[in-house]
Amino acid sequence: MRELHDLVVGIAVEAAELARIRRHEGVDVAASKSSLVDIVTEADREVERFVVERLLAARPDDGILGEEGASVAGTSGLTWVIDPIDGTVNYFYDIPAYAVSIALVEGEPEPTTWRALSGVVVNGATGERFEALRGGGARLDGHEIRVADAVPASMALVGTGFGYDAGRRERQAAVVQGLIGSVRDIRRIGSAALDLASVACGRLNGYFERGLQPWDMAAGALLVEEAGGALRGWEGEPASSAFLLAAHPTLADELTALLAPLRPQDV
Ligand code: IPD
Repeated sequence: MRELHDLVVGIAVEAAELARIRRHEGVDVAASKSSLVDIVTEADREVERFVVERLLAARPDDGILGEEGASVAGTSGLTWVIDPIDGTVNYFYDIPAYAVSIALVEGEPEPTTWRALSGVVVNGATGERFEALRGGGARLDGHEIRVADAVPASMALVGTGFGYDAGRRERQAAVVQGLIGSVRDIRRIGSAALDLASVACGRLNGYFERGLQPWDMAAGALLVEEAGGALRGWEGEPASSAFLLAAHPTLADELTALLAPLRPQDV
């Protein structure tokens, strides 16, 4: 597994550099997806093609699940889950928080049942490299990372995100309004992969979001687990597209209790 992990870390670093170069050259919207503000750039597609070609050249029997449409069933029972540029809107605006996120998962490529084995998140703008290998801990640029020590919710800096549908964003904002007086403050970084990496290295105390896609969370969730954090879904369910919360285990309990009356899973 170490060999596969090193392979994907190398590919993610090269892919992030490709994204950075394309950003420098100038970025145009190639298409809209679920709504007019849910954009894809030509660079998203090019980076995904680059990652898929490199992975399949080395691992022809593995499956692929990519944000921009790459989909290969595979026969090995292993699937590479790829977000070529997580934080595409940041990328479009040249806000330096966008990342290549790749995870290797075992089992059906579905977050409630898969077992993530390896994950890497590389910030294309800063070059920071977050990586985790199941059972082997989590690292930032080669140095071991841990989630922040437990703090009461009132002292917790909590990240969240919003979907692309305007109605859902309004309902998500109402959840934030209900929570913000009970925590230190809220951050909306704009890349779920970097939010999760930030929890893993203690830059955020916690993070929650409804409506993430499998590729937004695959690598980041493993980072949090390997850094000693807890991942929760809603009401005892595993973390999923429906709801994901990540934090130190003690804080995760407190945030879950604070969020319960706000019903963030229904927004
Ligand atoms: C989005 C980002 C954002 C989160 C959205 C995601 P994309 O992914 O991770 O932070 O709030 O839910 O869809 O579209 O930039 O790959």
